[in-house]
This record gives sequence, structure tokens and C-alpha cells, in this order.
Amino acid sequence: MTRHFLELSDLSPGDLTAVLDLSERSDPPQVLAGKGMALLFEKPSARTRNSVEMAVVQLGGHPVTIRDDEVGLDIRESCEDVARTLSCYHHAIGARVFDHGKLERLAAASSVPVVNLLSDRSHPIQALADLLTIRQHVGRLDDVTLAYVGDGNNMAHALAQATELCCLNVRVSSPPGYRLEEATKAELVDDPADAVRGADVVYTDTWVSMGQEAEAAKRRPLFAPWRVTAELLALAAPDAIFLHCLPAHRGDEVVDAVLDGRQSRVWAQAANRMHTTRGLLAFLLGAS
Ligand code: CP
Ligand code: NVA
Repeated sequence: MTRHFLELSDLSPGDLTAVLDLSERSDPPQVLAGKGMALLFEKPSARTRNSVEMAVVQLGGHPVTIRDDEVGLDIRESCEDVARTLSCYHHAIGARVFDHGKLERLAAASSVPVVNLLSDRSHPIQALADLLTIRQHVGRLDDVTLAYVGDGNNMAHALAQATELCCLNVRVSSPPGYRLEEATKAELVDDPADAVRGADVVYTDTWVSMGQEAEAAKRRPLFAPWRVTAELLALAAPDAIFLHCLPAHRGDEVVDAVLDGRQSRVWAQAANRMHTTRGLLAFLLGAS
């Protein structure tokens, strides 16, 4: 059976532990030796493209990155025909798309694993790196409280799904009109201070995701009370860590004193993108 990874919920709790354990292995299984992975991007990327390309190399494989103007999902050719074509040459396909439905259609037509490299609905490959960072820097995943403060977007969606996979408690606080709509075990909290109080992890993301640039001026004043400042972070547990998927918009969703402060683990988190993608691909391609 071909396993795809479009949502964090595509993994069972046991699968998640296996992926995180594989991510920490110092001898990457050479599951992609002599094989390729196609990486399709409809949106820009720094971390995802570079970390996935290097993860593929570490597994013995060859990444081929393809910009949207080269393949044109549903423009030059249908998603299904792109998936069928790339399945002829590659042993895995990754895609960063606007419409999550395109990922589902790629997966339905592909004979090799399809991995979500970010869609408007979810960013699960980032959530894997976040969970490894919490396991390493808080020391556990069970009974950890993560406060997500900001837009109820693709990142909030992916993190909220972690409540179903491990004993992570997730509180999400967003401005009215921008709240997470998904039904998970995540707790929706109106006041960002209430969300952060006593939390082990404080997390935020951009107020304006890729594709929403025209809404920036409208969103900025509405989101200002959800900015992660030193004062807000001080309400969390004394040894709480701060995470951000990046890219950060300094002075908007987070101030320099937090992003560069002693509690920030954002660079360890960014580094883990490569390790967890390597672990995920090894898992999807049958390593144990
Ligand atoms: N966090 C993340 O996905 O970064 P990029 O958009 O740079 O890939
Ligand atoms: N929510 C952001 C995440 C970027 C990694 C976006 O979709 O642009």
C-alpha cells in the first residue's frame, strides 16, 4: 500500500513515535539509493525546499525541484497526469500548493508516496519538526501544553491535530474572524494571555500567509493584541520555550527580544525540518 502524508492525522500515535525515532538516527537508511524525489512548488520556500532536498540526499537519493511555471498543475496538465508522469521517474513526490484538494488528487493518481510540503489547509511536515523540537527541548511530548497565539491558519490546523496523536495539550487563541474552525481536542481561548498562562511552549506564525498579501493592511491592527512580546511570554512557565515555523515578521507577530531571546528554540526547530523530513521519508518508504 502506498502511504501518503497530507495531514498529521495520516500517522497513528505509534507511527509518530517511529518517525521521530527515525529522525534521530545517525545512520540514515539508504531507502532512496539511486532513486529520485520530485518537489513541486506553487509558493516560495527557503526551509522546506532546502531541508527536503538535503534529506533526500542523506537517504541516498536525488531531489528534483520543479517550480510551478515549469509544470503548471491544472494549467499545462492535470494534477492526475502530473502525478502519473512523475511516478514513472521518482519514488516520492512532494508538493507545496495553494489548494489542498490538489494534493489529494495528486495522491489519488500517484503510485508513490505524496508528501504535503504546505497547503492552504495544513503544514504537517513543519509540525513534525515542531514535535521533535518539543521532545528534545522540553524533554517529553506527554502532558505538554502548547499555546498557539495568532492566525487560525494551516500551521494552527497542523498543530491542533497533534492533540489526537500524543498527549500534547494545544490552546489556540486568535482574533475573532480568524479562529481555527477544525474540530480537534485543541482548546480555543479568546484571550492570548489566558492561552499562554503556564504553557510549556509558546508558538506563533505570520499574520499574513502566502497568498493573503492583499489582506495585510486589514489584518495588522486586528492581530496586534496577539503579538508575542516579552510580557506575554513571561506569563508562560518559567522554562517555557518559544517556537515559530519561520519566516518571521519581526515586530509583527513576534518581537526581536522573544525571537532572539534565551527561550527561543527557532533555529533548532528549523534544523529539525531536515531531520524529521528524513525520518518521515524513511518511514513512508518502509524503513523501521
Ligand atoms: N517553515 C517553512 O515552511 O518555511 P519555508 O516557507 O521557507 O519553506
Ligand atoms: N502560514 C504560513 C506558513 C509559512 C511556513 C504560510 O502559509 O505562509
